[in-house]
Amino acid sequence: MNASEAAARVMVALDKPDAAEALRVAEALRPFGCWVKVGLELFYAVGPDIVRECRRLGFRIFLDLKLHDIPNQVKGAARSLARLGVDMINVHAAGGTEMMRAAAQGAAEGAEAAGRSAPPLIVAVTQLTSTTREMMNGEIGIPGEVEDTVLRYARLAKKAGLHGVVASPLEAAAIKRACGRDFLAVTPGIRPAGHEAGDQRRIASPLEALRAGADFLVVGRPVAAAPDPAAALEQILKEMTEA
Ligand code: C5P
Repeated sequence: MNASEAAARVMVALDKPDAAEALRVAEALRPFGCWVKVGLELFYAVGPDIVRECRRLGFRIFLDLKLHDIPNQVKGAARSLARLGVDMINVHAAGGTEMMRAAAQGAAEGAEAAGRSAPPLIVAVTQLTSTTREMMNGEIGIPGEVEDTVLRYARLAKKAGLHGVVASPLEAAAIKRACGRDFLAVTPGIRPAGHEAGDQRRIASPLEALRAGADFLVVGRPVAAAPDPAAALEQILKEMTEA
């Protein structure tokens, strides 16, 4: 894999409180050809304009708003987001297959209404990478291993016609075995050597994630909070090209 192939598989999370800070990072990453991920913090602060700005800079965009509501609401939300022209959106698999199917339908309608050639990819969040087995068993009330829940949700997402799931790199290989090579594994919880885990729990290095079969690596703080985001991304790409 060369550096530009590697960059096309990295999604940098612009987890910043305002447009100026987010766009400062985005501008620095522009030459690489990576994706950007717009999440809750930035989208709630700035609104749809941040998507338009990132598109103007030429980025492909994962709009990570983790939809989870009744099917009718999620359908409408997916329709609105698809109209913005993003490349990937997501929902919580815990919302069930009817909700996930509604998301796919809404996204298709939105893309068509906006005259876009294809709707965004839709992936389902399985278990957040900040969730441990103890939390899942004791607080959320789901018994067993995290991986079993992740795989159950992945199969549900596939059944609902979604393109893949968001999960820890530690689960990527099992997801591919359960759902097939073409079913996307989008993996946050990426930590290059020497970086703090922070609130993340189920983590791996960029190279480990790739070797496990991850299609997209979501990297937030190791790049976006680095003093020099471009240098931080370059280091990650260098590691990935060894794969
Ligand atoms: O800073 P860090 O690399 O931990 O950022 C990870 C990003 O991935 C955050 O934007 C977070 O919202 C997102 N994410 C996650 N776990 C999921 C889904 C998304 O950490 N299951």
